[in-house]
Order: sequence, then C-alpha cells, then structure tokens
Amino acid sequence: MSANTYKNVLLVGASGDIGKVILSALLADSNFKIRVLSRADSPATFSSSVNVIKVNYSDRTALVNALTDQDVVISAVGGEAILENFDKTLIEAALEAGVKWLIPSEYGFDFDNSSTASIPVSIPLLENITLLKQNQSRLSYTFISTGAFLDWGLDNDFLGFDITNRKATLYDEGKYLVSGTLLKNLGKTIIAILHHPELTLNKRIYIVDATFTQQEVLALLEKYTDTKWTVEYVTTEETLKKAEEDWTKGNLIDAYIAFLLGLSYSGKGVCGFEDKSNNAALGLERVPLEQIIKEAVHKKQTASQ
Ligand SMILES: NC(=O)c1ccc[n+]([C@@H]2O[C@H](COP(=O)([O-])OP(=O)(O)OC[C@H]3O[C@@H](n4cnc5c(N)ncnc54)[C@H](OP(=O)(O)O)[C@@H]3O)[C@@H](O)[C@H]2O)c1
Repeated sequence: MSANTYKNVLLVGASGDIGKVILSALLADSNFKIRVLSRADSPATFSSSVNVIKVNYSDRTALVNALTDQDVVISAVGGEAILENFDKTLIEAALEAGVKWLIPSEYGFDFDNSSTASIPVSIPLLENITLLKQNQSRLSYTFISTGAFLDWGLDNDFLGFDITNRKATLYDEGKYLVSGTLLKNLGKTIIAILHHPELTLNKRIYIVDATFTQQEVLALLEKYTDTKWTVEYVTTEETLKKAEEDWTKGNLIDAYIAFLLGLSYSGKGVCGFEDKSNNAALGLERVPLEQIIKEAVHKKQTASQ
C-alpha cells in the first residue's frame, strides 16, 4: 500500500456491536488517521482521544463536508439504518465528497448468491451493491461476507442456540452447511483488507472461520455443557412464511430476524461459502468450530457465576 493513498479512514456506526470492534482495530493501527461519524442525536459516547463528528444526516451539505478529505469510508450502521437504507445516502455523499473507497454495512450473506433477492430485507443492500458497481471508476468498494458472527450469535442466543437454558431450534433438521466467523476477529479482517487494496478493491471478500451444520453445533454444545438439550424442529419454509406475515403486519424486527435465520439455514448457500474463503490470501488464521463452542459455553458459565 502506498503510504498515503488510503490514510484517512472514516467509520460510521462505530458505537454498535460491530462498529466497536472495527473502531478498536483501526485506532490500534498507526498507519491510519481515524474519524468517527455519528448521528447528531446519538446517545453514543467515545473516548476523548477519538475524533468524532456529529452530523444531522438529513443535512446533505454537512454530511458531504464530514466526508470531504476522507480516503476510505467504512459503514457499520445497523438497526433502523438498514431498513431506511442510510448506506445509500452515505454512498451518494461519498461520491459527492470524492471519497476513494467505501465498505458498506453488510457483514453477513453472500449477496452474489441470487437467492438473497428472495427476502425484502436484502433489497436495499442489493441496490447499494448495484449503485457502487455502477460508480466503481470514481469510488472503489469492498463487500464483506462473514456469514454469522459465531461468538456474538452464541452470546445473544441468535443462531437457534440458547446456552443458558440448553434449548436449540433446528431449522430443516439442522442438516445444511453454513459458514461463520468470529466477530472478535473482524477488526483484523478490516485491517488486512485496508492493507491489501491489490487483493480487495472492487471485490467481495469472504471470511470464514468454520463451515458447519446446526447438528454439529448442537453435538458440541451438548459435549461442553455435559447435558442433553431440548430441541425444537422447524422448517425454513414455515419460518420464511411467518417472516412474510410479520413483514406485512409491520412487525419489522421479528420479520427481519426470521428472514435472516430462515434463509441462512435453508441450504441455498447464501450463508455457506467455504470454497470462496479469502482468509489464507489475507493471512487471517481460522479458528476451529470446537474451540468457538468451547469458549462460548465457558463465557456463559463464567457470566452466570
Ligand atoms: N453476521 C452477523 O451475525 C451479524 C450480526 C450483527 C450485525 N450484523 C451486521 O453488522 C452491521 C452493524 O450491526 P450492529 O448490530 O452493530 O448495528 P447497531 O448496533 O444496531 O447500530 C450500529 C450503529 O448504527 C448507527 N445507527 C443506528 N440507527 C441509525 C440510523 N437510523 N441512521 C444512521 N445510523 C444509525 C448508530 O451509530 P451512532 O449512534 O454513532 O450514530 C449505531 O450505534 C449491520 O449491517 C448488521 O446487519 C451482522
């Protein structure tokens, strides 16, 4: 990487679960000068050493000004920002401000897989991908597919496994392969991507620690909790149908979660991309599933003591 091409890096959504991990890795790398962009009315607080700009995002001029002179913009916005497609506003402002490189807030599916278009929550992300590809001669992009964040998901009972109550929900009998990675290693991933533009500009990057079935996860959870778990069986078809109903009724959060889980575990490959992994090329070591499960159980047991 030439010394100053991608020096000024702006992170948006730095106060979220995902953004915090990225921010801490960026701040630890002296090659980069970091600016954080946060909503004017955000309750988020940052250490006084962090350069934070608070902006009312509906003020286009203020947003463009905040992005001016920035080489790279990384988005880690979440929640309502995804439903409102804030990243589209960010991309348009980045184009106007002359930013060189943008990483949108994805961190999940393989959006190159056409099945992602089958759920409405993918539509804004797919629109952003099209917009960035159309403008890649002015603004480079990198898309990041991580699959599920396994440490985050097991900690938040998000992947169909509730460690505290020893309960699992298996989708389609838990037989299909999915990929996942550790959120705690996402910072290293972002740093590796920024240090290797020759490998990552205008590409989709796939990061995989483990590719597994839910059945394998359950077996390991039973091993490390030394308990037989209660298992509920659901189909991805009924999960996606319920998601559609919730979406129509305006229960957007329930719908969002059900869409993600239903499609991820449906065997359509949106969340299973072992053969596309870029870990080796970027020098990112993989962590075996067994170690991930062992650490997740240990963390829950320690927290409950
Ligand atoms: N693969 C996985 O397992 C997995 C798991 C979780 C999340 N993710 C993905 O990671 C990304 C970040 O998720 P997260 O859970 O960290 O998000 P989050 O905590 O819900 O939100 C992150 C930040 O977004 C900003 N934000 C919130 N609402 C906004 C709005 N309406 N407009 C603009 N900015 C807004 C806030 O920053 P300020 O307060 O500083 O403005 C907030 O702290 C998302 O793309 C999500 O889909 C993936």
